[in-house]
Formats: sequence, structure tokens, C-alpha cells
Amino acid sequence: MNIILDCDPGQDDVISLLLAMASPGELEILGVTTVAGNVPLALTQRNARIVCEIAQRKDVKVYAGCERPMLRKLVTAEYVHGDTGINGIEVYDPCHPLEAQHAVDYIIETIRSSEPGTITLVPTGPLTNIAMAFVKAPDIVAKVKSIVLMGGAMREGGNCTPSAEFNIFVDPQAAQVVFECGRPLTVMGLDVTHQVLCTSDRIERIRGLGSKAALAAAGMLSFFDQHDTAKYQSAGAPLHDPCTVAYLLQPGLFEGRQCNVSIETQSELTMGNTAVDYWHVTDKPRNVNWIFAVDAEGFFDLLVSRLARYSD
Ligand code: RIB
Ligand code: CA
Repeated sequence: MNIILDCDPGQDDVISLLLAMASPGELEILGVTTVAGNVPLALTQRNARIVCEIAQRKDVKVYAGCERPMLRKLVTAEYVHGDTGINGIEVYDPCHPLEAQHAVDYIIETIRSSEPGTITLVPTGPLTNIAMAFVKAPDIVAKVKSIVLMGGAMREGGNCTPSAEFNIFVDPQAAQVVFECGRPLTVMGLDVTHQVLCTSDRIERIRGLGSKAALAAAGMLSFFDQHDTAKYQSAGAPLHDPCTVAYLLQPGLFEGRQCNVSIETQSELTMGNTAVDYWHVTDKPRNVNWIFAVDAEGFFDLLVSRLARYSD
């Protein structure tokens, strides 16, 4: 399966990247595109390049994309992820190169030159790059096989306003473009990601693997745990972004329902809300496979088994 990973690393984006990079037999990573989100673009692109070095994946190309949302001012989340975006490990200036091409142009060129229905987009940050590609080159939309993204919330409520999840809140206009694009959409919202908690046992299970990659993952997750366990009084932080890649690898771990999901882009009070028509009370198009359940143990078994593939 050919994929483009679009991300804003962020510790949970890092785990998602490591999971994908440990699965070369199943996932062909055409490229990693980065966007402003958890931290500004200069850091998300650097962090993605650090991950490629941790994963020893010199072959993976990293592109920098949009440094601000389509319309709104950038909102970042250092309060969750730390100033580097990947607190929990020593960051440095990586040798892994940043490609010169803008991520939006890379997405356009790659999809345009591909066989129709062969590329899956996997966004785990604000959807600015994906939306800008679709606006700049509408012809590529029909060629996209599917989109599996992390974003939104229904029963769980918002995590950055009472009614909005961060990725959608940062760029609601971009989210509207993507949710209305007409291609198969699978959406991992907080309703499912809040079921996969990085408990200390699970972090120690990862740390026990002993490789540099596993130790880096455990270090980042230990930091990542701090904010959300205090906020939710939970046993661990929700491991949001890797749910996307886990779905690509083992969709049977998840349960979803095809329904309409629309994005609030008018009201400042509910800006970025994902209005999920779970009970089909409207006749709006059922544009999203809304994921609401996961086998959390199975998810972590998959994650640990793939992280175990890394050796020093
Ligand atoms: O709300 C969680 C999402 O926002 C995750 O993708 C996290 O990395 C941040 O981008
Ligand atoms: Ca993210």
C-alpha cells in the first residue's frame, strides 16, 4: 500500500511514523510531508527528519509544507508536546535532508503522476497541506485512493475548545475541503483515540525492547503522558496518531460507522466542531467511516511487535 504521511510531530505523530517505517513489507512510504500544528513548521519538519534517523530510514523523503492554516492564525500546542514538539528525547539538527520541493507541490505531483486509486493519504495534523493541494490541483482528488486521518470528536467533546479537537480546530476550512472531497475517508477521532492510553506498563513494555528507537519512543511517551493524564485524570495519555497507521495494518482492530461528518467553520464558539450525524437524522452524504471502537490490547500488541523490529 502506497502512502503519504502528513504530520506535525508531536510525540504521537512520531510513534505513527515509527510504526509505518517498521512495516516496509505492507506500507510503501512515498513521502513524509510536514505541516505547522503542534509546533511551528520549522520544528515539525526538523522533528520528522530526526525520526527518519532514529528509524534508520535514509530512503524516506521529508517535505516542508504550510506554515500556517488557510485562513486562521496558527495555534500551537507546546503546552502538550513541549517547546521542541518532541520533548522526551534530546533533539538536534539532523543530517537527514529536507527536500527542496514544497510539500503541497510534492503531493500534487505525486498523485498526478500516479495510477488512479493507488495512493492513501494519512494526515495526523491540521489538514492544511492536503486541502491546499486539492484547491491548487482539483484534478488530483479523484485519483486519491482514500484518506485515513486523525481528527475530530463526537462523544468525547473537544480537547482544545469544548467542542473541537486540535487538528480540526487549527484549520477548520482545510478540514471542510478534505471532508467534502468525495474520496473514501476514515476518521480516527477522540472517541476512539481516547481508548488507547499510554499507561506506564505499556511505556515500560516499549522501553524494555531496548533499541534506540524503542528508548526514544518510551522517552517521548513518558513526557507526552504528563499533560493528558493530569487533564483527564486517566491512566495514560491517548495515543492519537498511530491509530491511523494501525488501521492500515490491521483494520479489524477497529469498528466504524459510515455517516455524515460536517465541519463548523462559522461560529467562533464551536469553530472546528465535527458534527457527526451518527443516527442519520439528516440526508447529508455519508462521507466518513467514523471510527468509534478499538481493541486497545490488540493495538498495543501490534505497536510493540513492530517497534521490536528496530535494532541498533
Ligand atoms: O488532538 C490530537 C491531535 O492533535 C494529534 O494529532 C496530536 O499530534 C495533535 O496534532
Ligand atoms: Ca499530530
